[in-house]
Amino acid sequence: MQQDIREILFSQQQIAEAVRRLGAEISRDYGGKKLMLVSVLKGAVVFLADLMREIKIPCSIDFMSVSSYGAGAKSSGVVKIVKDLDIPLEGLDVLIVEDILDSGRTLNYIIGLLESRGPSSIKVCTLFDKPDSREVPVTADYSGLLVPDEFIVGYGLDYNEKYRNLPYAGILRPEVYSSNN
Ligand code: IMP
Ligand code: MG
Repeated sequence: MQQDIREILFSQQQIAEAVRRLGAEISRDYGGKKLMLVSVLKGAVVFLADLMREIKIPCSIDFMSVSSYGAGAKSSGVVKIVKDLDIPLEGLDVLIVEDILDSGRTLNYIIGLLESRGPSSIKVCTLFDKPDSREVPVTADYSGLLVPDEFIVGYGLDYNEKYRNLPYAGILRPEVYSSNN
């Protein structure tokens, strides 16, 4: 696995620091509110697991799954619900927890969908943010680490369902996807 990584972009320690900072900000901002962390499978699972333990106030979690990418590294532009939430959002303070904000298409769709369910508030927290790749105007209320316009894997992020279990985030060697597609 490691030999497919061209460069480590964020070490395990750098990620842990960013997650700690985000957890502290969220704990401060959501005191006394009904915080519900909504996470998008599967990439955000690693981030959510760490983030929720850095949040020092009560919160609930729920998951949904959408697909915006096929097997490759490029966005297809198609967003489809694969698994919906279990819990009604009415009256809750929803914080969408995303692994990476890229074109913004996925989040744009999810925000619109969840807004229609009557939450008290809805905000976005992303660990990785690629602001230069935005195709629709979505901004994160909480943003961890800025990523250059490169395809990264690790810490939950995959390429063809691989590399999610790397504890750091790195850039794949281009040969890896040119030989796979
Ligand atoms: P968006 O709709 O283009 O913002 O894409 C968001 C989703 O695409 C993320 O939740 C990831 O699953 C995937 N994605 C975007 N960029 C990357 C990347 O650099 N590595 C791995 N997955 C990515
Ligand atoms: Mg993915």
